[in-house]
Amino acid sequence: MKVESWLPFEHLRGWRPCRRGRWRTLKSQLLAASLTCTLLLVYACTQDFLYDPTHISLLWRNPTQPKQVTVLIWYEPFGKRRRLGDCHILFNITGCHLTTNRTLYQEADAVLFHHRDIGEFGDFPVATRSASQKWIWMNFESPSHSPWMTTLGDVFNWTMSYRVDSDIFVPYGYLFSKKSAKIVLPRKRKLVAWVISNWNEDHERVQYYNQLREYIDIDIYGRYGMDLRHDNIVKTVSEYKFYLAFENSLHTDYITEKLWRNAFKSSAVPIVMGPSRYNYEIFIPRNSFIHIDDFSSPRKLAMYLRFLDKNTHMYRRYFTWKKRYDVHVTSFWDEHYCTACETVKASGDEHRTISDLAGWYES
Ligand SMILES: *[C@@H]1O[C@H](CO)[C@@H](O)[C@H](O)[C@H]1NC(C)=O
Ligand SMILES: *[C@@H]1O[C@H](CO)[C@@H](O)[C@H](O)[C@H]1NC(C)=O
Ligand SMILES: *[C@@H]1O[C@H](CO)[C@@H](O)[C@H](O)[C@H]1NC(C)=O
Repeated sequence: MKVESWLPFEHLRGWRPCRRGRWRTLKSQLLAASLTCTLLLVYACTQDFLYDPTHISLLWRNPTQPKQVTVLIWYEPFGKRRRLGDCHILFNITGCHLTTNRTLYQEADAVLFHHRDIGEFGDFPVATRSASQKWIWMNFESPSHSPWMTTLGDVFNWTMSYRVDSDIFVPYGYLFSKKSAKIVLPRKRKLVAWVISNWNEDHERVQYYNQLREYIDIDIYGRYGMDLRHDNIVKTVSEYKFYLAFENSLHTDYITEKLWRNAFKSSAVPIVMGPSRYNYEIFIPRNSFIHIDDFSSPRKLAMYLRFLDKNTHMYRRYFTWKKRYDVHVTSFWDEHYCTACETVKASGDEHRTISDLAGWYES
């Protein structure tokens, strides 16, 4: 937000500090200007301009969309076979033929390559690709968990990931507008929960947890803690006021189901560790979460959590967003495939190649 551009700096030109009369007019002008600025700031600060992921992000579009496109899924993600869903039934997207049958390579309009399965040496189609076929790089792991990226320059035409600036942006979840409604919170008798399956003492999140628990009780679930109620994260976390939505690594836009499902779906206030607060605020309202960077130490964060625990009114303010929004948690993988298909259908025949894949993803 560029505050400077609102200030009428022209008024200051030619100003002499010793001339009283000028000072008086300047003072009233400054007062008026600062009032205007305050009003504008208050307005800007009470509005959340969230990124809307439900629109197709392509800059170029094909006005005459093909009736049917074939999207070939070259690798089944993580080597696991799944039944492919029907995009029409699931998402009202017509004309999608999804297939994993590699013999259909020549006629495929687009080919999806899941990053982890490409492997170090890549097992790409050998036949030459047709001029209009799009090779789409698909990845939802963070750069820290995406090896051999540097070998993949000049291979793909499009990217598909959790990053906003992907050609096909599919976030782990998002808020969507709903009609105004009363906020009903589940009964909360417990304080802080954390579900973790990959415990690593070297991870920043574990180190932060080790400090935080000195000052406040935190219940741990998952492989290293208690069992989830009915094997259900949302049911279990719903009993808690706060949830540690700590990402396994810190990268631009890398905000996973730990926020969308574990915290938001459970109506627990997320305490986030991930990209900057500024980055989170592109996707969620600023008063819907607590960022660990908001506090100079884990001790101060713990004090604040205890304060909120005693102040129901202040605590409930974290759920103002529920008046306007609902949470969508993206389901792997049908939603990804169908979004890819929808984008291929909408696209024109513009050619492009991703030359510095690693440089972009790590930025
Ligand atoms: C499905 O899509 C069609 C055309 O895009 C639209 O007219 C229709 O309202 C949609 N149906 C639902 C249930 O959203
Ligand atoms: C793949 O497609 C080819 C050509 O349409 C077909 O002959 C073959 O039976 C298919 N394979 C599978 C496993 O469906
Ligand atoms: C895809 O990338 C390849 C390799 O750089 C390029 O030859 C081809 O023209 C591109 N196709 C499209 C549709 O962008």
